[in-house]
Amino acid sequence: MADTLKFEDRVVVVTGAGAGLGRSHALEFARRGAKVVVNDLGGSTHGEGKGSEAADKVVAEITAMGGQAVANYDSVEDGDAIIQTAIDNFDRVDVVVNNAGILRDTSFAKMTDQDWDLIYRVHVLGAYKVSKAAWPYMQEQEYGRIINTSSAAGIYGNFGQANYSTAKLGLFGLTQTLAIEGAKKNIKVNAIAPVAGSRMTETILPPEVVKALKPEFITPLVVKLCAEDNKESGGLYEVGAGWISKLQWERTQGAKFNPSEGFSAEDVADNWDQICDFTDAEKPKTANDSFVPVFTNLGIKIPGM
Ligand code: NAI
Repeated sequence: MADTLKFEDRVVVVTGAGAGLGRSHALEFARRGAKVVVNDLGGSTHGEGKGSEAADKVVAEITAMGGQAVANYDSVEDGDAIIQTAIDNFDRVDVVVNNAGILRDTSFAKMTDQDWDLIYRVHVLGAYKVSKAAWPYMQEQEYGRIINTSSAAGIYGNFGQANYSTAKLGLFGLTQTLAIEGAKKNIKVNAIAPVAGSRMTETILPPEVVKALKPEFITPLVVKLCAEDNKESGGLYEVGAGWISKLQWERTQGAKFNPSEGFSAEDVADNWDQICDFTDAEKPKTANDSFVPVFTNLGIKIPGM
């Protein structure tokens, strides 16, 4: 078992690795023998400024413990440049951890277009650009592992985070489709929704809680999902403080109306309890699973469904 969790000869790119969760992931992959690209723009939690210090510090930590790492200071919006750093220095890319993130929290009423765009650009566009640049290498070598960092705010919604929750659930959509498209080439793609103490959460959580919620408690799941023998793909996991759980979609049996006879809003209202009754709920796994009751209700059998 232990050998499958080694990363010798593997090249791992961790975005936003200059602090918090990303730093913890980068250090652990390096400890396990990986060559690591430590990407960090070095700006503020709100996405202002930049600098090389954050990434350089983590590279120095890795080098000091005898590991191999190189810094990259580009924004994840320039994903090509980040992956090029991996190719130029280590000749390949095996693992991408899309972790870089910022916050622009404000109520929807007060949210500016800039708050919306910046969050979209760092979280969604950034994960897309880095993954897109790595994808041809992963396809060619028939090996790849990608982690996207989602959030409970995306899964459940959260006041003041319309921009962030949209982006974070969007990353789960990306995860599920890349898992389907990567399956034939042994590219496994998973998402995590972490809870950890970092500069991102230190303004909303008491100091003792920030200290207790160590980023190091997130990393073992990330390492496991990036392992050589990992078979999981398209999954979403909540993780924090030593607790790890997998999520899945669930839906009610629903109510059925006769499409050829037509039905009204009154019919929907009259059947509302049944529409919302989770007794005997089913757990569709694919878009095809999802369509089955739709076509069944029409009396049409689609081959393969
Ligand atoms: P952090 O602020 O400590 O680390 C984020 C890192 O990303 C910083 O070093 C920052 O410089 C870097 N970064 C920001 N924008 C960048 C860009 N455009 N290009 C490259 N690097 C950039 O925050 P933390 O908590 O470690 O967050 C890591 C990820 O986990 C983020 O995606 C965050 O949204 C997500 N997350 C964290 C939670 C938590 O409880 N800490 C909860 C849910 C999600």
